[in-house]
Amino acid sequence: MRLTETADVWWKNAVVYCLDIETFFDTDGDGRGDIRGLSQRIDHLAELGVTCLWLMPFYPTPDRDDGYDITDFYGVDSRLGTHGHLVELITLAQDRGIRVIADLVVNHTSDQHPWFQSARASRESPYRDWYVWRDEPPADAAEGIVFPDQETSLWQYDEQAGQYYLHQFYKQQPDLDIANPQVREEIIRIIGFWLQLGLSGFRVDAVPFLLDTKGAQDAGALPDPHDYLRDLRAFLNRRNGHALLLGEVNLPYQDTRKFFGDEDGDELTMCFDFIGMQKLYLSLARSDPAELVKALNERPVPPEEAQWGTFVRNHDELTLDKLTEQEKQEVFDAFGPDQDMQLYGRGLRRRLPPMLGNDPARIKMVYSLLFSLPGTPVLFYGEEIGMGENLSVDGRNAVRTPMQWTSGVNGGFSAADPDNLFRPMVEGELSPEYVNVADQRRDPDSLFSWIKLLVQRYRESPELSWGTCTILATEAPSVFAHRSDCEGGTVIALHNFADEPAEVTIAVAGAAAGLRVADLLSGAVTEVGTDGTFRHRVEGYGCCWLRVLRPGDRYLV
Ligand code: GLC
Repeated sequence: MRLTETADVWWKNAVVYCLDIETFFDTDGDGRGDIRGLSQRIDHLAELGVTCLWLMPFYPTPDRDDGYDITDFYGVDSRLGTHGHLVELITLAQDRGIRVIADLVVNHTSDQHPWFQSARASRESPYRDWYVWRDEPPADAAEGIVFPDQETSLWQYDEQAGQYYLHQFYKQQPDLDIANPQVREEIIRIIGFWLQLGLSGFRVDAVPFLLDTKGAQDAGALPDPHDYLRDLRAFLNRRNGHALLLGEVNLPYQDTRKFFGDEDGDELTMCFDFIGMQKLYLSLARSDPAELVKALNERPVPPEEAQWGTFVRNHDELTLDKLTEQEKQEVFDAFGPDQDMQLYGRGLRRRLPPMLGNDPARIKMVYSLLFSLPGTPVLFYGEEIGMGENLSVDGRNAVRTPMQWTSGVNGGFSAADPDNLFRPMVEGELSPEYVNVADQRRDPDSLFSWIKLLVQRYRESPELSWGTCTILATEAPSVFAHRSDCEGGTVIALHNFADEPAEVTIAVAGAAAGLRVADLLSGAVTEVGTDGTFRHRVEGYGCCWLRVLRPGDRYLV
């Protein structure tokens, strides 16, 4: 059943915003953001129109992987605050119509986790079998390494244990054995715990790795790992029917589709569209949307109540792993030619604006795409003001610098001595002096004002979130045109990937009288000819969202 007018399936037109508490706002002056700080700044998210806040890991951690290495799945890192602070934050967010989800990182633990400490100490430990051990590393131990700059094998010898353990990520992140029923149960308990505290779901880290049982000795005897994901979703639904599982699945489309589950979508509620994202960059590099169009045409339609998560940037490197070597090189040449901008030979540790030469029109066009393409838009903090990266910060953390609130010291992020910030601010052209929330919220031409407008119009247009998307052919190769239809409403969006203006002819319908199209972003109205077509000029890197107005329509434009 189609439920466009109920609130149950809220993720279908959500605006997701990802942030790390420690880089958002510092209230105690220790140079690290804290939960109270985020609570104080929650109205910034409300003003932007965010409806779902995704918290990166806030659990206790030795920080070998920026919090993705956890020592207590039920804890809150004391540097950030307490459970009390977290529950207050969730309450404040909910008061503003913002649901809170958090990273669920249960493929592995930190090697400092008490489970692993116990497991490595003795073969008799009740936790020994929670991890994956071998006397000898398998022949394919070096295949599929995620962090090739740091690791040479997926198996690490542990002196204390006298065996090798599996770690698909850093060696400080031993993999849990999902084949062990006790581990499966514990994960369920972790989910139950956080739901009870008020979370509305999870961004599930590294899903294919989590479900992978290749390390288990008796993998052949195991049930289908998707059964476990189904169990997990069923449990989640029993506890909170509104809760969401947003999965990190970076696989070819047909393989990713399986993680949505059956026709009714009984596994992940949402999967990120990694392929669409990569093809978007290739298309931007070529000033030609053809590759993006191809990806969208190949992208499986998710089950009715499920949704793709679309994004332009996230907290990791901009991975280009699904492009060919030559395509990847094109993107490197266009957006990250220096060695220092690249990571693991497969991605870019940069944010969008500097990659696009800080061209405001081009940046605005990309966000217009993000909000008008089918899929739920996911923003990474700082994107709303066009923050850049700091390449002097190691690895992926280059894009995880503190939020820029004002043009003042430390961008208003912290009262600490600038030398005592746990991570430095962005410097140069995109430093807080030039890029900050305070200036942009008063400037109608700022990126912040633009993204607010996009959010507003996107939330008002069920066509974009619920509709059927059709890609339209145009005579201008640089113009990407798509049309979304839902229950009699139609929005046609045009995006010019090149810096030259282009004119296109768009057919709205067969012969028709009295049709008009109104640009939801600028308000401009164009008459549609009696043959059902209209011509439209799209500026270089320009964009528009045209709602079709039929005689008698009472849309608010
Ligand atoms: C995911 C996260 C990444 C992390 C890794 C290991 O890919 O996005 O930041 O390093 O999982 O947890």
